[in-house]
Amino acid sequence: MSAKNVFEARGTAELAARYDEWAASYESDMGDHGGPREATEVLARYAGPDAHVLDAGCGTGLAGELLAARGFRNLEGLDLSPGMLREAAGKGCYAALHQGILGEPLNLPSSSFDAVLVVGVFARVHAPSSSLTELVRISKPGGYIVFTLRPEFYVDSDFKATMTALSEAGSWRHVETTKPFDGRYKEFPGIDLQVWIFETRKT
Ligand SMILES: C[S@@+](CC[C@H](N)C(=O)[O-])C[C@H]1O[C@@H](n2cnc3c(N)ncnc32)[C@H](O)[C@@H]1O
Repeated sequence: MSAKNVFEARGTAELAARYDEWAASYESDMGDHGGPREATEVLARYAGPDAHVLDAGCGTGLAGELLAARGFRNLEGLDLSPGMLREAAGKGCYAALHQGILGEPLNLPSSSFDAVLVVGVFARVHAPSSSLTELVRISKPGGYIVFTLRPEFYVDSDFKATMTALSEAGSWRHVETTKPFDGRYKEFPGIDLQVWIFETRKT
């Protein structure tokens, strides 16, 4: 299994199965890929170690591990792949792990997270921009949604329109977008990423 294989999945069930198969070797294949380090650094500027954080599309738990090393202790993870969730559970840094699909209703209460982190999941064949509405719903008012996105994908997909619509509706406020940085993907050299951060509407 490889990064290329997951991008060839047809539908959510096949994507989950391909990640299940890849789970045990994901970290050695992906190495120090861009995203977990950069996004957790940004998140730590806005949320403290007591923050209730959801790592959505947590995979094997790379971002959770980095947040735990920074003292974050109220972490939950969500992913569609049971195999990836098992790897994440082995890290011991998540208080709870949930199987769920971004793009569908999430079985999580409204206004419950101080921050939601999404690293390497908003991409072709993965989670759609419509997931953002659910992430706003489960975030506390004044909480943060932090995610990585390829600069080209932002404009070529419907992410730009969805993100702009959420701003215009007053659902969230744009806080910061980082400069592009190297995705460090062994299989896809030359891909850049950016971290976006939004603050959800305060009541
Ligand atoms: C490229 S990995 C990134 C994992 C981790 N965040 C990281 O940075 O290493 C993408 C993860 O998102 C999960 N995923 C993909 N589409 C998803 C969706 N629609 N809902 C929930 N999880 C999804 C996959 O199962 C996989 O674990």
